[in-house]
Amino acid sequence: MKPNKGLFFFAYFIFKVKCDVNILCTSNICKDIKCEPVSDFCDQQNATHRGITFPSPTTCNCCKDYCVEYLNEGERCSVGNPSSPPATKMCGPGLQCKTQTDLDDDGICSRMVTDCTKKQDEYDERRSKGTLGSMELRPECDEEGYFASYRCIPGQSCYCVSKSGSRIFGESDFSGVPSFTMQCKCSRDYEEALLVTGQDLGPHQHFRCSADGSYDELQCIGEKCLCVNRFDGSPTYPDDPLVDINRISSKTLNCYTAMRPGLYYRNCEDEYFQALKNLEEMVKDATFDEIFNYELPKCDIDGTYKAVQENATHKMCVDKDKKILLAIDKSNSLAEKMDCKCLRATSIMSTVEKPTCDKETGNYETIQCRRGICRCVDSDGNQVCNKSPCEVGVQEKNTLVCL
Ligand SMILES: *[C@@H]1O[C@H](CO)[C@@H](O)[C@H](O)[C@H]1NC(C)=O
Ligand SMILES: *[C@@H]1O[C@H](CO)[C@@H](O)[C@H](O)[C@H]1NC(C)=O
Repeated sequence: MKPNKGLFFFAYFIFKVKCDVNILCTSNICKDIKCEPVSDFCDQQNATHRGITFPSPTTCNCCKDYCVEYLNEGERCSVGNPSSPPATKMCGPGLQCKTQTDLDDDGICSRMVTDCTKKQDEYDERRSKGTLGSMELRPECDEEGYFASYRCIPGQSCYCVSKSGSRIFGESDFSGVPSFTMQCKCSRDYEEALLVTGQDLGPHQHFRCSADGSYDELQCIGEKCLCVNRFDGSPTYPDDPLVDINRISSKTLNCYTAMRPGLYYRNCEDEYFQALKNLEEMVKDATFDEIFNYELPKCDIDGTYKAVQENATHKMCVDKDKKILLAIDKSNSLAEKMDCKCLRATSIMSTVEKPTCDKETGNYETIQCRRGICRCVDSDGNQVCNKSPCEVGVQEKNTLVCL
C-alpha cells in the first residue's frame, strides 16, 4: 500500500475526469436550438488576417464555434463594458487595448509591457547597438506577455521555465521542435501547486511528469490509473474505467509502455516510499534528532533521482538512476556550489560540441569556448554579455571577465 496523503491536490484532477463526461448533451437537444450566423474570418488565416475561435456559448455547443477577429498593432479597439454586446474583435496576441484614461472605452492596440517584453526590448536594443553575443537568443513571450514555456541554448539543450521566466524541471535536447514539444505544462502545474501548498510534495502527492516537463501519459492516483494527454494532463479516454494499479499492462491501458511489468512507480519513488515506511516504524522509539535528520531520497517530479544527492560525507552528481558521476567531499568549499546542471545537460545532448563542465562540481564552467570563440555563461549555460568585449578568441580566453 502506498501512503494516502496529499490527495487534496488530486481532487481537482478527479473533478476534471468526472466533468468531462457530459451526460445531458444528446443530439436531440440541438434540434431545437437556433444558431446565429458566425464570421468566417477564422477559416482562412494569414499574417494580417487572423482570429481566434471560441466554442459557441449555446447549450451543449450545438452551434458552430464563433470567431473573434484579431486586431493588429495600432488599430482601434474597445475594452468593452458589461452593457456592450459580445466582442467580435480583439487585440491580437501580445497586444493589449490601451486607453488614454481608465474611463475610456476606446483605445489603440499596443504592445504589452511585461517582464518578458521588457527583456525582448532590451535584447532588440543591444542588437541594434551591436553588443549582442552570438549565442544569445531573443526571449520568447506568450500571448499574454508571460515567458514562453522553455528557453534554449543554441545547439545544446532547452529547459522549462515558469511564467515569470525562472528555470523549472524539464530539459531536452536542442534538436527537437521545442515550441511544440516543450509546453512544460506538467512542471508548470507542479510549480503552481507548490505555491498553494507552500512545501515540496512527495511523489504520491502530484502528477507525474516526463523528463521534458510534459505529463507522463500514464498516471496513477492512489490505487487507480488512467491515460492522460501529455500536453495538458486531461484523460485520453474519459469513458474508460480507471485501472487498478496492480493490473496495469498493455492490455488494460493503451498508454502503457513497459517500464517494469505491472509496476507504475520509478526507482526514486520506490526508494522514497520504502524510506517513508522505515521512518514511520522508526518514529515509535527514535529521538527527535534522529527523526529530524532522517533523509528521504531526493526525487525529481518524473520519479527519477535529482541530479544532486548527498550522504554524510559527500555531495554527488548522479544520473537519473542514481549512478554516481562525480563526488566531492563536503569539507571542500566547492561542494556548496555543486549543481550538476552541465553534467546532466551534456548527457542528453546529441551534439558533439558539448559545453565544458567543471570537473569538481559538474556545473557549467563560466567561460565556454565553441568553434574558436569564448564567452561567459550563467549557471544554466546561457551566454551572458554584460562586459565588453563579451566574446574573444581562444588565445585571449584569459582576458575575458565574467561577473
Ligand atoms: C489575407 O487574407 C485576406 C482575406 O482572404 C486577404 O484580403 C489579404 O490580402 C491576405 N493578406 C496577405 C498578406 O496575404
Ligand atoms: C558517501 O559517498 C561517497 C561517494 O560515493 C563514498 O565514497 C562514501 O563512502 C559515502 N559515505 C558514507 C558515509 O556513506
